[in-house]
Parts: sequence; C-alpha cells; structure tokens
Amino acid sequence: MLRTARLTADEAGLAEAATILKRGGLVAFPTETVYGLGADATNAEAVAGIYAAKDRPSFNPLISHVESLKAAKIQGIFDETARKLAEAFWPGPLTLVVPVAPTCTVSDLARAGLDSVGLRVPAHPLAHDLLAATGRPVAAPSANRSGRVSPTDPDHVLSDLDGRIDAVVDGGASDVGVESTIVACLGGTPRLLRPGGVPREAIEALIRQRLDTGSEGGKSPLAPGMLASHYAPRAQVRLNAAEIRPGEAALLFGPTPLQGNEQAKAQLNLSKNGDLKEAAAHLFSYLRQLDASGARTIAVAPIPETGLGEAINDRLRRAAAER
Ligand code: TXA
Ligand code: MG
Repeated sequence: MLRTARLTADEAGLAEAATILKRGGLVAFPTETVYGLGADATNAEAVAGIYAAKDRPSFNPLISHVESLKAAKIQGIFDETARKLAEAFWPGPLTLVVPVAPTCTVSDLARAGLDSVGLRVPAHPLAHDLLAATGRPVAAPSANRSGRVSPTDPDHVLSDLDGRIDAVVDGGASDVGVESTIVACLGGTPRLLRPGGVPREAIEALIRQRLDTGSEGGKSPLAPGMLASHYAPRAQVRLNAAEIRPGEAALLFGPTPLQGNEQAKAQLNLSKNGDLKEAAAHLFSYLRQLDASGARTIAVAPIPETGLGEAINDRLRRAAAER
C-alpha cells in the first residue's frame, strides 16, 4: 500500500507533484470542475495505474489535460470549429475530441486505441501551474473510485483513494462541481458528447450552428464514450485460446507459450511476467500491431479476471463480439 502524500498548493508542492507524474506516479489535483486523478498521458503504464487505482472494470478514452492551445495542437488536429471553441472557452470546462495529430504523444491506452484524442486546458491556476511544470499531457478522469461521485475537495479524494495513489494536491474546493462539456469536432457537425460546465447554448451561439446530440436526431446526449465507436481490430478475435492455429496471430500473456506457436503469423506477449498493469499498457498497441500482420484471426491467451484483468477482458470480449 502506498502512502498518499497531501501536497501543499505552493511552488514546492507543485514541483513535487510534477516529479511524481514524470516518474509515472499518480497525483490527484484540483481543476475548476472536479478533482482529476492524473498520470503522464504519454506513459501507458502510468495510465494503467489510473484504472487500477479507480478499480474501473472497463477502459474508456480519457481526457488529456494540457497547458495551452499551443500544447493541444501538438496532440490533435483543430479544424475551424475546434479552433474557435478553444479560443473562446479555454482555459475552462470544455473538452474537445479531435483527430490525433501526427505529433501526438498521448498513449494508445489513454485514447482507448482511438484515432481521436480528448483535450482540455483547465482554468484552475493550480492545474495550469502543474501542467506547466510537468511539461507533458496529463490524463485525468475524476479522482474517485469507480461508481462513486466525483470529488470536489481533497478530503473526498482521500476518502476514496487514500493508499492507492501517490499524492493529492490540496487546492481546496473546486467551484464548478460538474464535469467539463465534451464536444467532438471530427468533421461534419460537431457533437455534444457530454453536457457539462459550458452550456450548450453558449457553444451554439458562438459557432452559429446546432450541436448534434442523439443518434437519430434525438435530444438526449450520447452516453460518454459511445460516439467514436470503440476501437475494434479488423481481424476476428478468439478468446481463451489454448493453441495457435495456422495463419493466426497471437496475443500472449504470461511465461508459457501457446501450443503451435511456430505457426503464428505474428505474436506479442502483453506481459511475460503476468503483470496485469504492464498488459493493460500494451493492450491497444499490440492489438493494432497484430491486426497489421494481416492475420484473419487473433488468438488470445487466457487472462485472469482479477484487478486490471477485468478491464482487459472486457475490451477483448467486445473486440471478439463486434462484427
Ligand atoms: O471535468 C472533467 O472533464 C474532468 C476533470 C478532471 O477534467 N475529467 C473527466 O474525465 O471527467 P473523464 O476521463 O472521466 O471523462 C472522459 C470522457 C469519457 O467518458 C469519454 O467518453 C470522453 O471523455 N472522451 C475522451 N476522449 C475521447 C475520445 N477520443 N473519443 C470520444 N470520447 C472521448
Ligand atoms: Mg467520472
């Protein structure tokens, strides 16, 4: 069990927080919406730690927090609408989902394997200073255990995550209390993925356009994560494989090879030591690489259902079912 440090909201506290993030640790920090549970977005193992700490049973794309629009443009491609929204509402409670830029450094795991990236420049001065000191994108969902309410002060964070994360920056109460509004700008009509701190009307007035919401012109917003159709490999996915059949690619886990591995078209091991955090960190990029081998089927070795294994198996089951 970790000891969770309570860091002061001053230069020394923020320097310590940035050091922890850069070495792959987890730091909760205040934003103007809610407290975020931050990890270096470019480090997939650090991002896997977010899921482990939250006990989250599935992977969804996370918001990467950056210091400025300039920093955001390294990660994502901003069309005219996205640029307008960023210029009007950043820093602030707005997240933009945009196509990944060729220079994007946000890990596959933080994007849940998608070709888009969720970006936000928070307005809270401590969040800003922390991002500036860290100098890289910080992935951060709300800093609560899965299924609990989003925290708006450091005591909420500690009551859920004490002993599971490295530190919390004590910045007092957050003032918006609801999460950021999420808008996807992926070409075509921009879509409201989640209502939040910036009202829909303010966005529509600025871009002089109605935001898309429901699937069939309905009024209800899409459930978070629904839009961007989760990443699915082209190949078939065969779970709990005991052997590799001719022409298959294989996704392994643990020290024992699968039978028939000499006939594999390609094979990658999520974690030779059977470390689920390492496995989560590799999951999306390995699926992509195996898919690129051209194999019709990816055989997947059994992965335990404990800890992060639940989220890994959830993702694999969906990949096996999505046809
Ligand atoms: O106010 C907030 O937004 C807080 C603070 C900490 O910034 N953060 C937050 O993050 O609520 P999170 O990770 O819980 O919300 C992420 C949501 C997901 O539900 C996901 O659907 C959407 O953002 N999202 C992020 N990237 C996406 C992408 N590439 N495509 C579609 N949805 C995306
Ligand atoms: Mg949340």
